[in-house]
Amino acid sequence: MKNIADIRQEYTKSGLRESELPCDPLSLFSRWLQEAIDANVEEPTAVIVGTVSPEGRPSTRTVLLKGLHDGKFIFYTNYESRKGRQLAQNPYISLSFVWHELERQVHIEGTAAKVSPEESDEYFRKRPYKSRIGARISPQSQPIASRMQLIRAFVKEAARWLGKEVERPDNWGGYAVTPTRMEFWQGRPNRLHDRFLYTLKTGGKWEINRLSP
Ligand SMILES: Cc1cc2nc3c(=O)[nH]c(=O)nc-3n(C[C@H](O)[C@H](O)[C@H](O)COP(=O)(O)O)c2cc1C
Repeated sequence: MKNIADIRQEYTKSGLRESELPCDPLSLFSRWLQEAIDANVEEPTAVIVGTVSPEGRPSTRTVLLKGLHDGKFIFYTNYESRKGRQLAQNPYISLSFVWHELERQVHIEGTAAKVSPEESDEYFRKRPYKSRIGARISPQSQPIASRMQLIRAFVKEAARWLGKEVERPDNWGGYAVTPTRMEFWQGRPNRLHDRFLYTLKTGGKWEINRLSP
């Protein structure tokens, strides 16, 4: 294997200037997400979600962002998964988007709350039939005996719902993340990257600071 310490790349694609920063970080995020979609980056909505156990131990995993409205980031998962159980005890959450092709990342911190059952139903209905069946039978994050166990449960459940509207299980739904801190990172040459931190102040105004790379 190549010595991984020798792998390095100069980041030269773009820059982020103070003069182009909007007062609201959500509008900059929307612009960057749209640019990632337009640039055909792989999985532009993929986001690394960090949660914390009651013992203060962090864990991360990737999910897909499925909505951005009213200043909140929406993703869907199993409420009884590891992340779901952690969020039930501690709503603090981090979201990290990395768009390598654009040499950009955005780190978000805030709190997560379940979306309404109606909002989860609305999104669940849009999912492909087989994904809806999968959500019903997967005890996400639990140990299972074999893949065969999963496939048997899937086939049985699929037969049960044939020709009917598949109902969303109670343990599956969305989280809405309300951000309190958002950091935008644009790679620059010589590791002198541009970093801008938005911090939510009481009264709802966002304070902006440039951070050292
Ligand atoms: C690209 C990608 C997208 C994913 N999207 C989701 C998703 O939207 N929701 C979800 O529950 N898991 C998604 N997963 C699986 C999660 O990363 C994770 O394995 C699962 O949610 C269980 O995590 P937990 O045990 O930490 O709760 C995705 C994985 C990848 C690699």
